[in-house]
Amino acid sequence: MTAELLTGIAELTTQAAESSHDDDRLLGAALVIENGRIAWLGPAAEAPAADSVVDVHGRAVLPGWVDTHSHLVFAGDRAAEFEARMAGQRYAAGGIVSTMLATRAANEADLVANARCLRREAEAQGTTFLETKTGYGLDLAGELRSARAAAEVADVVSFLGAHVVPPGIDRRDYLDLVTGPMLASVAPYVDFVDAFCETGAFDVEECREVLLAGRAAGLGLRLHGNQLGFSGGVRLAAELGCASVDHCNHLDDADIDALAGSNTVATLLPACDLSTRAPFPPARRLLDAGAHIALASNCNPGTSYTTSMPFCVATAVLQMGLTVREAIWAATRGAARAVGREHGPDAVGSLRIGGRADLQVLDAPSVAHLAYRPGMQLCVATWTEGARARPLANRDLST
Ligand code: NIG
Repeated sequence: MTAELLTGIAELTTQAAESSHDDDRLLGAALVIENGRIAWLGPAAEAPAADSVVDVHGRAVLPGWVDTHSHLVFAGDRAAEFEARMAGQRYAAGGIVSTMLATRAANEADLVANARCLRREAEAQGTTFLETKTGYGLDLAGELRSARAAAEVADVVSFLGAHVVPPGIDRRDYLDLVTGPMLASVAPYVDFVDAFCETGAFDVEECREVLLAGRAAGLGLRLHGNQLGFSGGVRLAAELGCASVDHCNHLDDADIDALAGSNTVATLLPACDLSTRAPFPPARRLLDAGAHIALASNCNPGTSYTTSMPFCVATAVLQMGLTVREAIWAATRGAARAVGREHGPDAVGSLRIGGRADLQVLDAPSVAHLAYRPGMQLCVATWTEGARARPLANRDLST
């Protein structure tokens, strides 16, 4: 068991405080990683001896990003659909079928390889923990291999058989399949059940049926809600105690009250909002009402083809009215809450003595640079469970 000391940290953001309002930055800090965990953190001048030392030379260190919404198991791309959208066409749920066809035509090894490649992209941008979903197989065999592929690549997997009803099957028959044999076959590979509650996908009662079947199978609950309109998804998610309801672009006062009065996290997806020219969710109102929020990439070929969490953080600050600290909280500790990993020995999204050593080093003296220098590659190194990765071959920490 060797101990590695990271020192020379200009600003260490721990996210160990219980709210994004509390300051949890240590200036002039150091930390020690041992056995995949944080063994010590505090003022650099008081750091204990270690087997090896990495001096980050005045850079900022913070928890790695926790990306809790992505759809990485797919084949093909939808650049033509994107171009048409940028020329004025509206996004509709139906585009999912074109990715379903490409995904069904691909072999499982290629699906895993593509998802791995996207995960590596995400890691290069500081992501150290990632959720991904099924949802482009949409028949029993397709969802099963998507679940297997997702489980190989991601830390948390959600079953999204209820993404849309695929062509060629009766709606009732499809729901019976999703809540019956499909759920039973994917259950060993997945942690959550998810559904797309929207016009063109599934209504509130259909989503309720899917989520309750998932709960009966022992899965956690999450939901896509209120992306394209006032679908009722947000209130259903709050009522059922979903860990997260994702998108939340269209919220009325009752939706905001329902979220504020629940433990359901509103997961906001700014890259998707830009790529679909959707109104941003009312992030400021959600926070001011006392709701919990998270930020995620929603990487998928239809509505958000990016794995970059720094892009989401910068957009949330520059366009959605969040402070830098609120946005970073939402992409780390808030996101951990959205996958039930905020507390306990496997907690992610914060740096605490005894907790997982999942962290990133920025080529900047403070986290403010994430929004102050948008679009720049600031992440120069990550440690995931104590193992170091260096995202860019042409950068190091020596100066
Ligand atoms: O989260 N909204 C539903 N699912 C994806 C988009 C899927 C697609 O269009 O391929 C999303 O945006």
